[in-house]
Amino acid sequence: MSSKKSKICVPTDEVRYALYENSVQDAPEQARLFERFYKDAGGADPQVLREDFAGTFWISCEWVKAGDRRQAVAIDNCESPLNYGRQTHYADLTAAQQERVLILKQDVRDRIQPGVDVAAVCNFSFYGLKTRASLLEYMRSVHASLRSDGVFVLEMVGGPGFIRIPEKETRTHRHESGPKKGKKWYTYRWLHKSFDPISRNGVYSIEFRMASGERYKDAFVYDWRVWTIPEVLDCLEEAGFSNSAVYWEMDEEDDDGEVFIKTDRGLDDDDTWLSYVVAKRAK
Ligand SMILES: C[S@@+](CC[C@H](N)C(=O)[O-])C[C@H]1O[C@@H](n2cnc3c(N)ncnc32)[C@H](O)[C@@H]1O
Repeated sequence: MSSKKSKICVPTDEVRYALYENSVQDAPEQARLFERFYKDAGGADPQVLREDFAGTFWISCEWVKAGDRRQAVAIDNCESPLNYGRQTHYADLTAAQQERVLILKQDVRDRIQPGVDVAAVCNFSFYGLKTRASLLEYMRSVHASLRSDGVFVLEMVGGPGFIRIPEKETRTHRHESGPKKGKKWYTYRWLHKSFDPISRNGVYSIEFRMASGERYKDAFVYDWRVWTIPEVLDCLEEAGFSNSAVYWEMDEEDDDGEVFIKTDRGLDDDDTWLSYVVAKRAK
């Protein structure tokens, strides 16, 4: 048992975004996946990424690092994650790379200049759009910004385990470098606070418990509508997308080292599943 008593504290933005990214994001891998989805859909070499609900826009920064002609548009309506992104990932880019990242503080439903190859929303962030009308408005805005061979990638989560109350997932993270390498850094806790099966509205939160004793309760709280895949596919069609594919997360890599498998049928024994819906703008 730990001898340290935990103390509920409020983390600085710097601490909470660093812990968030370390716990739930892998930007280089996500950038690689988007390129694969675009090529699977018949595209050649994607150049322009639109990262929606971008937060600290780490993926946009990785995207422009992966090619001299690559550009990214990062969209978020909140200043604090954008500010963290500017001070970290963006500051680490070369001046030439920085010129290829456009940061827009605006609603994802607002129209932007067309010319996007891949539009993407990660970590289920569009679940924050809780009505069909607002989801459609968002999808139409994405559709209008895509080139004709562009794709729209939506990361989704669901399954009985995701709507169970109460439920929590706990993971321990260790320092990966520096003098404390291998020592416990913090525990990540994902908590289900409520779920209403009629509206499919659920409230979820992230808590971090630091090895040094601080407890960052409700470091992030999400009030979501847990959309289902068929609802999203129907809306995509209505918004003008020509066809959509689903990539399901497998427990193990396949022979090509891929974890996400394109499929018409999800695995029905997955208590909590994760998948990407990939919609093509035009045939
Ligand atoms: C869960 S975070 C996602 C962070 C990161 N992109 C990821 O994938 O983990 C959701 C982000 O969406 C932003 N957001 C919420 N509603 C939005 C809207 N309507 N338009 C633009 N950004 C929005 C929030 O400010 C927040 O930074």
